[in-house]
Amino acid sequence: MCGIIGLVSKKEVSSTLVEGLKRLEYRGYDSSGIATISNEKIERVRSKGNLKFLEEKLLSTSLPGNIGIGHTRWATHGTPEEKNAHPHITDKVAVVHNGIIENNNQLRNQLIEAGTKFASDTDTEVVCHIITSYINSGLSAYDSIRASINDIRGTYAFGVLIASEPNKLFAVRGGSPIAIGSADEENYIGSDTYSLSAYSDNITYLKDGDIAIIENKSYEIFDQSNSLVEREKQSIIESVTLSEKGIFKHFMSKEIHEQPEVIAKSLSNYIDMDNSLLCVPDLPYDLSTISNVTLVACGSSYYAGLIARDWFEKFTNVKVDVEIASEFRYREPPMDSNGLTIFISQSGETADTLAALKHCKSLGQKTISIVNVGDSSMCRNSHASLKIFAGPEIGVASTKAFTCQLIVLACLAIKIGRLNGSLNKDQEKDYVKSLLSIPRLISNTLDKEDEIVKLAHDLSNITTTLYLGRGQMYPVAMEGALKLKEISYVHAEGYPAGEMKHGPIALLERDLPVFMMAPSNTLYEKTVSNLNEVIARDASVILLTDEKGLENIGYLKDKIKTFLVDETDIISAPFVYTLPNQLIAYHIALLKGTDVDQPRNLAKSVTVE
Ligand code: F6R
Repeated sequence: MCGIIGLVSKKEVSSTLVEGLKRLEYRGYDSSGIATISNEKIERVRSKGNLKFLEEKLLSTSLPGNIGIGHTRWATHGTPEEKNAHPHITDKVAVVHNGIIENNNQLRNQLIEAGTKFASDTDTEVVCHIITSYINSGLSAYDSIRASINDIRGTYAFGVLIASEPNKLFAVRGGSPIAIGSADEENYIGSDTYSLSAYSDNITYLKDGDIAIIENKSYEIFDQSNSLVEREKQSIIESVTLSEKGIFKHFMSKEIHEQPEVIAKSLSNYIDMDNSLLCVPDLPYDLSTISNVTLVACGSSYYAGLIARDWFEKFTNVKVDVEIASEFRYREPPMDSNGLTIFISQSGETADTLAALKHCKSLGQKTISIVNVGDSSMCRNSHASLKIFAGPEIGVASTKAFTCQLIVLACLAIKIGRLNGSLNKDQEKDYVKSLLSIPRLISNTLDKEDEIVKLAHDLSNITTTLYLGRGQMYPVAMEGALKLKEISYVHAEGYPAGEMKHGPIALLERDLPVFMMAPSNTLYEKTVSNLNEVIARDASVILLTDEKGLENIGYLKDKIKTFLVDETDIISAPFVYTLPNQLIAYHIALLKGTDVDQPRNLAKSVTVE
């Protein structure tokens, strides 16, 4: 989703701004642009589509200046075309924006009535004109920005240039993240740690309501009440390099194959290997008496929550709810005062999940975020945070972050079960043993990628498909369907296998591909009954099961395609059955020739509602 970079230096900045934009590409974007000030005049270059088109334009249009801002845009107001790309400018002001201005229509109408001519369909341009009108009324640059913030409603992070202040870069935060990184005789602004880490070894996040005035050697931050404040400067300790793809064609493929390694890393942070016991850190509240658990998330992270529900229910004996953040935050259901709410997010910036977190905190819930990006907004806003240690995930479709989220959720469920007496030490050891087996089980599936490639060739022309499963395999099915939809643009639906006969069975016809996840567990026989219903309607079944499952299926095995995985248990099954689905989606997308790492319309960090 939209990314901001900005820089004030002693040197020319345009090429550094473009490099900075490249570090924001992974967030997803549809257009880009940069603006600089030279001789107190604002200049800009923008382009629709990939950054290479911006670079091509910059070969013929030089953009001099020691100060500038840049932006990758993910369309909200206005189609993805050059006129809507940021920066938006007037003769006095340039603005880049991440977020949404909610009272855009009202403000735009007022400005039009006052004679303002708009050049784009964006909400951001409104802000540009408002700041300009305050400057025209005689206010200073800083006061104009401050006054404009009072006029707008919504979520935003802004980078602002004012032509009459060619040595000052302004940054504003109101709900969307923005941070400052400082280096030798130059200072940067950026949307995230990664965008700044190439230039600075430290990062200072603004807080909501802050406005920063940044010069090349120093900066000042003013809070909501206009007081000069200090914000914590953190060092960028973790390596935030987006490692190369190496032998892999796409980041997604690399990230799928990294799973044994990153899962092992995640486990090593939460398991004391010497004693085969958990070492999840203590949280700043008593987990032994919590009355219920609510898991809140979006997309794949929500499916991770649905899988984890089973663990929390079985291991802790407390009531568990799983909520889609965008629904939950507006439903505002009553919450038990002794409840624990867990927010799951790879980015830690998803607007709906973050808003739900703030809402739950205001209700006095104990909160914990499970995130990949350690210094993210969710991390900073929750009472406690557990990192998943997946490493940077660049492919827009979540793969390794999803499975590492499951690791942390399983560990937390076992920990609460131990604390409230629902599990004994032997059970903890058994579950830990199972957790420790996951990297090996996943590697075994990865070793069989050739079989998946063949399967993908057989399925390369499909236009629609169903993924079915029971129990934990139902959210695994939904996650499998989501992966296929996202990167190959093939319609896919994940459904509870037992519920199929109440509607989706009408879709079954000759050769319709149906993926069935059937580990040989207590739900196996019931799943096989549903399998029979599918076969009876001539659909084309791809059964994911283990040796025992295949044996028990008897003569039916001649009528279907199968992919065999290792035997699993309640802990390992969701991991082991997720892997083939990730690979199937990847290889079908590869055959279709889609943009696997940056699928159309999708963003890595969804910072708007
Ligand atoms: C799917 C995917 C998305 C994210 C969702 C939430 O592959 O990546 O569905 O899971 O946008 O994002 P986070 O986890 O960053 O809150």
